Amino acid sequence: MNDFARSLENWYAEYGRTLPWRLTQDPYRIWISEIILQQTRVAQGIDYYNRFLKRFPTVEALAFATSDEVMQQWEGLGYYSRARNLHAAAKQIIDMGAFPRDYSGVRALKGVGDYTAAAICSFAFGLPYAVVDGNVYRVLSRYFGLDAPIDIAAGKKAFASLASELLDLRTPALYNQAIMDFGALQCVPKSPDCSRCPLADSCAAFGDNRVELLPVKSKRTAVKERFFAYIIILDECSVYIHRRGEGDIWAGLYEPLVVETPRRASVEEVVPRGFCIVKVIEGLKHQLTHRTLFADAYVVKPEENSVLSTLLPPDFIKVPLERLHDYAAPRLVNIIYEKLNFA
Ligand code: ADE
Repeated sequence: MNDFARSLENWYAEYGRTLPWRLTQDPYRIWISEIILQQTRVAQGIDYYNRFLKRFPTVEALAFATSDEVMQQWEGLGYYSRARNLHAAAKQIIDMGAFPRDYSGVRALKGVGDYTAAAICSFAFGLPYAVVDGNVYRVLSRYFGLDAPIDIAAGKKAFASLASELLDLRTPALYNQAIMDFGALQCVPKSPDCSRCPLADSCAAFGDNRVELLPVKSKRTAVKERFFAYIIILDECSVYIHRRGEGDIWAGLYEPLVVETPRRASVEEVVPRGFCIVKVIEGLKHQLTHRTLFADAYVVKPEENSVLSTLLPPDFIKVPLERLHDYAAPRLVNIIYEKLNFA
C-alpha cells in the first residue's frame, strides 16, 4: 500500500465517523444513503436516511410506492429529479430481478453516475473502484499539488486516474470512506487546521502555502436570481394549490399560484383582478445551489361580488389547511406556510 493510503486509513481508524450506512453492506441501503448525501450534510442526512428506509425498507417497497409518496419522503431535500430517478431506478432493479452486483450494472441505474457507482460497488461488494467526489478533489489536489481545473473534462480525468492509482486494492471500501471523511472533517474547504493534520508533513499545498488556493476551478458558476410572488387563495379554511410541471425546479411538488417576474414586482403587477389582499409577507430570500430566489407572498380572498371558479386557473385543487402537509411542497413554500401558521 502507498504511504498516502496508509496515512489516511490510520487517520480514519482514529477519527472516522460511525454512520448508519457504514454498518451495512446492503447495496439498496448504501445506494439510498449516497443519493441523500449528494443533497445534504451528514447530520441531516441521517434523519432522512432513517425515515426513508423506515417507509421504504426494500427496493420492492420503493418501486411499488406512488410518486407522491416518494416525493413526500424527499420533501425538503431539494433537487427533486434525484427522487424521481431513485423511484425509476427502483423499478429498473425490479425488472432486472435483483440489485446489480457489478460496476456496469450499477452504473446503468437511473441517477447513478461514476461517483455513486464506485461508492456502491466498493462499500457493498468490496470492488476496487475509487470514489471521486468534492472531498476527493480537495484532498488530492492539495496533497499532490495538482492544479488541473476540476470542472473541465481534462482535469476530471487527471484526478480520476490519480485516484485509481492510489486506491488500496485490499480494502477499497475502507480507503474510500477514509478519504471522504478526511475531506469532510480535516481537509475542509475553508481554513483547515493543518497544524493538527497528520499528513501535513508530506502535503504539497501545505509546503507551498497554497492550501486555500486548491482545488482550482476554471470558472465560477454564475448565481442567477429569480423573483416569485405567491398568491395564496384562501377560501374559508382551505387553500388552492397545484402540482408543478416538468422542466423546472421542484417538478412534481405542490404550491400555491405563483407569478414569476424578471425583477421584483409590485402588488398591482402580480395579484390578479377579483381578489382582495388579506395578508402580505414581503422580502423573503432563499438560496438554492445555483439560484437565489426572492419571494413575496400574498394571502388573498375573492372580492365580494366575484365568483371564485371563474378566477381560478385550471388544475388547482382545494385543500383544507389541516391536510396541506399531505402535499409535498418546496422548502420555500413551507417557510411561507409556517409564517402564516398554516403548518
Ligand atoms: N458523503 C457521501 N457519501 C458519504 C459517506 N458514505 N459517508 C460520509 N459522507 C458521505
